[in-house]
Formats: sequence, C-alpha cells, structure tokens
Amino acid sequence: METTLVLIKPGGVSRNLIGEITRRIEARSLKVVGLKLINADRTTVEAHYAEHAERPFFKDVCDYLTSGPIVAIAVEGTNAVKAIRAMMGATNPVEATPGTVRGDFALTIDDNLTHSSSDPEAAARELQLWFPEGTL
Ligand code: CMP
Repeated sequence: METTLVLIKPGGVSRNLIGEITRRIEARSLKVVGLKLINADRTTVEAHYAEHAERPFFKDVCDYLTSGPIVAIAVEGTNAVKAIRAMMGATNPVEATPGTVRGDFALTIDDNLTHSSSDPEAAARELQLWFPEGTL
C-alpha cells in the first residue's frame, strides 16, 4: 500500500476539473485520504519544486502554482504512485495518451493540469510538505 500526492494546478481548478480528476481517482479504487483547496504559499511551492531550482522554468512554475487556488489530494492504494502517474499521462500533454487526464484535457506543458509524485520517496517528502498535519 502506498500514498501519493496529486496537485490540481490553478488551470485545473479554474476549468472546473476538480470533480472530473477526483472522480477518475476514486473510480480506479484509489482512496482519497486527504483533500484541500488552498492558495499555496511561495515557500511551500519553492520547496516542492526544489529539484527544479536550477532549471530555466523554475520561476514560471512557481509563479503559476501560486497564481490561484490549487487542490492538494493525498491518494492511497496499491501501487498508488505508479497508477496515478499513468492516469495523469506524460508531463508534456502533447505526448500524453488519450484516456489520461492530460491526454484528454491539456495541451501545453506549462498548463498540464496536475502534479503527481514521481516515486515513493518523492511522495513521502511531498506529502509531508502539503499535509504536515498528516492524512486520514
Ligand atoms: P510537474 O509534474 O508539476 O513538475 C514540474 C513542472 O514544470 C511540470 O509539471 C511542468 O508543468 C513544468 N515544466 C515546464 N517546462 C518544463 C520542462 N521543460 N520539463 C519539465 N517540466 C516542465
């Protein structure tokens, strides 16, 4: 059993995709064990994307994630990390398979609707960052 993190980015929230994305997660028999709609603070976002700190897109992704409300979801289930990554699709939506969230709803890498943890270690770190109070 694993727990992973999904962030629905500002574009997903403003396009009313909270329900659609959460529906897909639940339909897969994965369990929502934490969920909140928040305005992310810059410090948390910069810590979240720390591995990209030297990349040219770092400032833009941090600006974007703090540009409007986001939804943080903790998701539990067997192989949850890999299952969620596969459901969200390739980071660049033009390479995402139809049937995935990005393959169905996104077109550009800057507005790829969701973030999900890349591996169990990243999931543990990110869950601690977004759910310091713990999950259910
Ligand atoms: P995410 O999974 O949230 O992780 C880092 C984000 O940076 C990524 O999704 C994209 O939205 C964004 N990004 C912008 N340009 C790139 C790039 N060239 N490679 C990877 N991620 C990028």
